[in-house]
Amino acid sequence: MVDFAFLDSGTGGIPYLTYLKRLRPDASCIYVGDTANFPYGEKTHEQIVKCVLNVISRIIERFNPKAIVIACNTMSVNTLDVLREAFPETHFVGTVPAIKLASAVSKKRRIGLLATSSTIKNPYNIDLKNHFASDCELVLRADPELISFIEKKSFTATEEECIKAVTPAVDFFKKSDCDVMILGCTHFTNLAELIQKVSGDQMKIVDSREGVCKRALSLVNEDDKTEVAESRLFITGFENESDKSEYDVICKRFDMEWGGKL
Ligand code: DGL
Repeated sequence: MVDFAFLDSGTGGIPYLTYLKRLRPDASCIYVGDTANFPYGEKTHEQIVKCVLNVISRIIERFNPKAIVIACNTMSVNTLDVLREAFPETHFVGTVPAIKLASAVSKKRRIGLLATSSTIKNPYNIDLKNHFASDCELVLRADPELISFIEKKSFTATEEECIKAVTPAVDFFKKSDCDVMILGCTHFTNLAELIQKVSGDQMKIVDSREGVCKRALSLVNEDDKTEVAESRLFITGFENESDKSEYDVICKRFDMEWGGKL
């Protein structure tokens, strides 16, 4: 049994695990990237539900986590209610765009949301906006190219290459006169500092790490400890064996053990 399992379509959600470990270093965590089905953002709702149900049942069977963090906005907005119904014994924490936080920060009342094509289309955002930011304009942008760059290249890319990859999104929201940009796909949190640097003072970059991790921690009692304080990275498949070296870099960077294929 582990304390927390994190799930995303790839490496996107790892900064969420890192954030949680900073708050509770002795937590035992596993991280699963459903890389065999990456990218989720270009799938239909039905495909997303099917893939998530499949990988979640494998995670529960093998690790029996005390709580599962869906560290993926696309999976969360499409499947949280289905998951809670299918696995009523398991605690799920979802990740949704930080619209409430953005509303608290925006002075111009113009908020940018950078996410996957699927998340952008989901009515959940409109509900969040109507609830927490009804007087704001929400400017939407899907960026599958940047997500793919982060998943497949960013960990071994130069800073220059990363700046080039994030610049179109930053320019888009600056031109739209937004003063806040929400990282509404967990992949972007891997480059959050760089996106802030490229944006300068004109735009504040926000994401949902704090809210998600605090919610997850509130569900698992600190005294009810699992013996090993580990962080292990699993994936569900790679295109070719050479991709494995990318995961070695990732494990080193985030101080994780390599768990192999789930
Ligand atoms: N990281 C995921 C999210 O937060 C999705 C990336 C993808 O597979 O398209 O939405």
